[in-house]
Amino acid sequence: MASGNVFTHRHILGMEQLSREDISYILATADSFKEISTRTIKKVPTLRGHTVINLFFEPSTRTRLSFEVAAKRMSADTFNISSSTSSTTKGETLADTARNIAAMHPDIIIIRHSCAGTPLLLTRYVEAAVINAGDGAHEHPSQGLLDLMTVKEHRGTLGGLKIAIVGDIAHSRVARSDIIGFTRMGSAVHIYGPAPLIPKGIDLLGATVCASLEEAVRDADVVMTLRIQRERQNDPLLPSLREYACQFGISRRVLSLAKPDAIVMHPGPVNRGVELPPEVADGPQSVILDQVTNGVAVRMALLYLVMGTA
Ligand code: CP
Repeated sequence: MASGNVFTHRHILGMEQLSREDISYILATADSFKEISTRTIKKVPTLRGHTVINLFFEPSTRTRLSFEVAAKRMSADTFNISSSTSSTTKGETLADTARNIAAMHPDIIIIRHSCAGTPLLLTRYVEAAVINAGDGAHEHPSQGLLDLMTVKEHRGTLGGLKIAIVGDIAHSRVARSDIIGFTRMGSAVHIYGPAPLIPKGIDLLGATVCASLEEAVRDADVVMTLRIQRERQNDPLLPSLREYACQFGISRRVLSLAKPDAIVMHPGPVNRGVELPPEVADGPQSVILDQVTNGVAVRMALLYLVMGTA
């Protein structure tokens, strides 16, 4: 476990609120928890008697499951509510849902919602610690942290790297959390994607907007691609997925422009054959499943650390 209790955040709402020291502390804590998932008996009593509620108003495979796995490995009692099974479908407001959940005295609420700012809003109605599992196009801090952990493991450092992020930046909360996280730790983030999917002002977060895919990927240490989020596009912003794959997909040829030992990342879910062809998604440089493994360790660390501030 990381030494010295320096973590003071009651809620995890975004990378924006985390200092360089906070990030290092979370990653060190995650590192110490990672080994638990390799044991025969994958359980420690750290959060015994604590109640964790997963409140997901958007679909999720990785985030929801890994928060649940993380909580269970720490002996917490976990409960899942999804939008389809909650009374919000009957017209209940989020505030009323929150007050009712709060009345059951949970210790931690993990929330995913399509509206940016919902996790912050939730903190006004509950005493529990709140962890943002993705809010609209705003932030996805646990994904940002697991991405940092994965890069640190593979590159040995988080400073002085070139990180290329390619794809739908406009709708991506992962991109925002990663840009903030990697730049805060001393690396340079270069982004590229279809012009309508590059939001104005993204450079203010510290990213460099590239004029071509080659410019973004050349000599990169990390090549990360993002899914085209068609569910968040009211009008189609792309002519076709086939054209997208030709112009913005990370083929083996494109990847050869990066450093020879560059790693390929994707937060998932991957649209195979669109942002990544199978030979790259499953190739020797891909660390996509390492990201998923590290997601459990990072989420164990977050659950542990927010409970330490209670
Ligand atoms: N990376 C990520 O957030 O995946 P899920 O949508 O499956 O949780």
